Amino acid sequence: MPRLTINGQSRDVDVDPDTPLLWVIREQIGLTGTKFGCGVAMCGACTVHIDGVAARSCGMPVSAVEESQNIVTIEGLSPDGSHPVQKAWLAHDVPQCGYCQPGMIMAAAALLAQNPRPSDEDIDSEITNICRCGTYNRVRAAIHTAANGGTQAG
Ligand code: FES
Ligand code: FES
Repeated sequence: MPRLTINGQSRDVDVDPDTPLLWVIREQIGLTGTKFGCGVAMCGACTVHIDGVAARSCGMPVSAVEESQNIVTIEGLSPDGSHPVQKAWLAHDVPQCGYCQPGMIMAAAALLAQNPRPSDEDIDSEITNICRCGTYNRVRAAIHTAANGGTQAG
């Protein structure tokens, strides 16, 4: 039985080892903030962090993740929604329908952890998540705001 560490908690999950991590997170653990979009690791809706690195959980069998690795979902990014990316997202009113946004936020947070002052080119090359509502300009602006440590839109 795989044992995972999700948002700081150890969880045993009774699933086939080939089960995609996304389904374990959503169906077994019950954390539904992480979304299913394409299912083939193309859209980024299912993005989580594994040891601080953005990972598309739909394309990853649960057996590929060790208990020692820390999986963080959108629910675990901050205890109260106060992560700088979440605050910048609010300041810029980034979401429209919202479906892609947990994945966008997780991708943005991972980018800033590795590159605290990304350029527009860095953002465009690293944030390849798909948003059908076209929030890309606001995503980019909010990442810059978070990088600058502020919450003001502009
Ligand atoms: S649902 Fe995983 S990348 Fe689209
Ligand atoms: S906000 Fe609707 S898909 Fe991105």
